[in-house]
Amino acid sequence: MARGIRRFLSVALKVLALMLALVLMIVVIRTVTFPSYQTSPPECKVTDPDFIPADEERLARFTSAIQFQTVSYERGVGTPQELAKFVHFIQKSFPTVHGSPMVRRDVVGNYSLLYRVEGSDASLQPYMLASHLDVVPITEEANWEAPPFSGQVKDGYIYGRGTIDTKHTLMGSLEALEFLLSSGHQPKRTLYLAFGHDEETHGVFGAKVISKVLQQRGEEIVFILDEGTMVVDDFFPGVSKPVALVSVSEKGSLHVKLKVQAEGGHGSMPTKESAIGILARAAKKLEDNPHPNMFGTGPEARMLEYVATEMTLPYRMLSSNLWLFSPLVGWLLSQTPQGNAYARTTTALTRFTAGNKDNVISPEAEAIVDHRIHPMQTAEEVLEFDRKVINDARVVLDVKDSSSVFPPSPISPHGKDSPTYAVLQKTIQQIFPDALVTPTFMVANTDTRHYWNLSSAIYRFSPSAMSVADLKRIHGVNERISIKAYEKVINFYYHLISNMDEPLDVKHHGHTDGL
Ligand SMILES: *[C@@H]1O[C@H](CO)[C@@H](O)[C@H](O)[C@H]1NC(C)=O
Ligand SMILES: *[C@@H]1O[C@H](CO)[C@@H](O)[C@H](O)[C@H]1NC(C)=O
Ligand SMILES: [Zn+2]
Repeated sequence: MARGIRRFLSVALKVLALMLALVLMIVVIRTVTFPSYQTSPPECKVTDPDFIPADEERLARFTSAIQFQTVSYERGVGTPQELAKFVHFIQKSFPTVHGSPMVRRDVVGNYSLLYRVEGSDASLQPYMLASHLDVVPITEEANWEAPPFSGQVKDGYIYGRGTIDTKHTLMGSLEALEFLLSSGHQPKRTLYLAFGHDEETHGVFGAKVISKVLQQRGEEIVFILDEGTMVVDDFFPGVSKPVALVSVSEKGSLHVKLKVQAEGGHGSMPTKESAIGILARAAKKLEDNPHPNMFGTGPEARMLEYVATEMTLPYRMLSSNLWLFSPLVGWLLSQTPQGNAYARTTTALTRFTAGNKDNVISPEAEAIVDHRIHPMQTAEEVLEFDRKVINDARVVLDVKDSSSVFPPSPISPHGKDSPTYAVLQKTIQQIFPDALVTPTFMVANTDTRHYWNLSSAIYRFSPSAMSVADLKRIHGVNERISIKAYEKVINFYYHLISNMDEPLDVKHHGHTDGL
């Protein structure tokens, strides 16, 4: 008997050792042979005959654009006079665009702008470049180093609200188009420029109406590029190069209302449990039981794989073996609030309302939970999970209202087999030759949420290189962009439009593919 067990154990140990050796071998082989997803197209150089410099005139147009105080405060509450002035300024500033027989301009929803630039080959599906005209309000005005609507230039930086979000893409794309049309060139493929006027308050009067107009025209757009993630330094551990993050999806949103009704009464003779107590426990349960870690199921895993070959060894090993290390990487990611937002549907307790007198037990308590839904989950799953976690019939859970729930966006094509991702990657690497390009998703939302019906390839990327410190200035104090960075924005759009004259197909660049 004992000998039997001993023999069994010895065989089991050998099998285990063999399996471990096999796993280790796979890990090593994958680490060594993992394919590179990066390309090195011809770089855009200052000496190119068609390089567009940020000269005095272009700079003046940009700083003037910053001076329009096109603030959106809340849904339907904006700055109509400023918008009207800004729209007029744009018309005056780009005479070739506005005078060209190839360009049709529609004012949509009173202030939003939709340009159609007719391509010479009508058989090609159009594409669309999107931005928005509005900005968020000013905060802490006293702490700005230059007045927030001045567009003042200091030490090579242009200061002002909207320099990054997102008048640089709006003006940059118009500069590129003005330059192109002035040189007498007609694009092969029709392109749209779409500028909503209330993106900062959900785009229901701007982008939503633009989308309706295009859907009525029966347009099918081959791809849409809107503002989004940028080129950042020091984003990943183990990567020394800047990384251009192209968002191929956006998280969804769900605001859940928790409500408890219980016996009220005088504070001198409380019942065992109050509405406040019941709700507080329910809310705390949600905080203590996060939604499942989804790392490895969505685009966030590609984000690491596409830069794997550029990482230092331990990170390279992890990123090229997510089949094994996903749980570990997901756990590591979830240790910071920023990383956690990529790993799962987040749960934020944002409001708690109950009671109005010191000595009266409130018969009612309400709380709001703000969930941002991971691209691989649905709002229904999130609500169901919350119900299970709370597991208390006295707590009534509901979607707060229809405007606070929308699903994660569909995931746009990316990778080596996607020609639209490829043209974007090529353009990015022409303008930012040091940068690695990788897909991700956005934790925040853009106007593209209204464009899902128009295109299955929607990318959110702003062609500007930002330090992590400068990223914090967006929607904050001292928002700014360097003149050099703005120059790159203009040339990025120019190259993108030029690249779109070539056939959209997948070009392989000679690296070894696959495993
Ligand atoms: C557009 O302007 C008109 C006239 O000022 C106004 O009645 C209408 O509500 C506006 N529409 C939008 C979508 O803002
Ligand atoms: C998308 O198209 C569907 C079907 O035509 C329509 O019901 C829906 O309202 C459209 N959504 C948007 C945001 O335009
Ligand atoms: Zn924006």
